[in-house]
Amino acid sequence: MINSRNTMSIKELIICYFSGTGNSRRVSRWVEEYAFPLKGNVLNMENITKSGLLSLKPDSVFGIVFPTHGFTAPWKVLKFVFGLPVGKGIIAFVIATRGSLAFGSFLLPGFAGSACFLISLILILKGYKIEGFRGVDMPSNWISLHPGLSKAGAEKILAKSHSQVRNFTGEILAFRYRILTISRLFEFIFALLLLPVSVLYLVIGHFLLAKLLYANYSCNGCGLCAENCPVNAIKMYGKRNPRPYWTFKCESCMRCLNYCPKKAVEASYPFAVAAGYIGSSAMLSILFYKTELKALWLSTIDNPLIYSAVKWIYFVLIFFLVYIVFYYLFRIPFINRILSIINPIHYYRRYNEPDTKLSDFRKDNIQS
Ligand SMILES: Cc1cc2nc3c(=O)[nH]c(=O)nc-3n(C[C@H](O)[C@H](O)[C@H](O)COP(=O)(O)O)c2cc1C
Ligand code: SF4
Ligand code: SF4
Repeated sequence: MINSRNTMSIKELIICYFSGTGNSRRVSRWVEEYAFPLKGNVLNMENITKSGLLSLKPDSVFGIVFPTHGFTAPWKVLKFVFGLPVGKGIIAFVIATRGSLAFGSFLLPGFAGSACFLISLILILKGYKIEGFRGVDMPSNWISLHPGLSKAGAEKILAKSHSQVRNFTGEILAFRYRILTISRLFEFIFALLLLPVSVLYLVIGHFLLAKLLYANYSCNGCGLCAENCPVNAIKMYGKRNPRPYWTFKCESCMRCLNYCPKKAVEASYPFAVAAGYIGSSAMLSILFYKTELKALWLSTIDNPLIYSAVKWIYFVLIFFLVYIVFYYLFRIPFINRILSIINPIHYYRRYNEPDTKLSDFRKDNIQS
């Protein structure tokens, strides 16, 4: 329970979250819980198609909670925040959940990079008053990169972040959160250093990650993944034997991968390795040297700008060519089985926030 005279002027707490596997939803619920007796309203931003329609009053406190992707905020969140109505001084706070890992009793923190800074900056430019922002460590859900955490590991991280969120909520609502600290300065410097990675992730990385996803031979075509994708990125194709197909809209939130009842969604390492190998600049130079194009290649290397443009264009072309080949290979049951069995992700433990069911995301929806 918050105890501050300033809190008396706040009438309502509105939190909009985006969440792939429930971590950011859980953090939003914790804030709501600790803001008591202030009336809380936790909304899932995935179905608020026009964030400008959101009704925020001058005596509201507005929070945005979302996962860190590629050391920054996902596109979905950026678009949502850009579309918000003008703030007119409304008090706001930002939380980026980040992926922490547990090795015995050692907890490796995640890093939110520019996520909080960027969203706070956009909110300030829109006229909101940022009262505070922070990254909160939650069990990492990036299952296309590493196996899901054990129950014990996840519980340790959740217990720690629970108390972090309690302190943060108390300080925000009592207007005594300190934004300018030495650790925040270091965070900002690292965020700047990692900015090129974040830009690459937003511009190209997450599109490529989306194309790694496929359904293995255990898929029964139930369509649950398509129904529950927060950005409608999955299409079911085939009348007699429907199969999911991942489009570029995918935000790589990991929901389909972690909630599929058959554990059938995988990110294909064999495809990533094949595309990476054939699309590498070493392969490109072999290609040029083995053909009549050797002289053209040498002149390209002389100019670093043309060289990197050629390299990227080649990589993207190869990526899509290999993708088409793999797409058809995955449709052959025997080959799908082989490609899946040799894929490390096939054996990874999945993760979703322990108390979050798929139906919970729908419960927080509002009509817009
Ligand atoms: C594609 C992708 C990229 C990620 N990038 C980062 C990152 O840069 N830094 C970090 O600390 N965690 C990263 N994570 C981990 C998530 O931010 C973290 O697990 C988050 O709590 C997930 O929240 P959600 O369940 O609400 O989606 C990433 C996860 C995914 C799926
Ligand atoms: S991938 Fe999983 S959730 Fe999607 S259709 Fe197949 S079995 Fe159902
Ligand atoms: S396709 Fe899967 S990973 Fe991509 S946004 Fe939808 S649920 Fe998330």
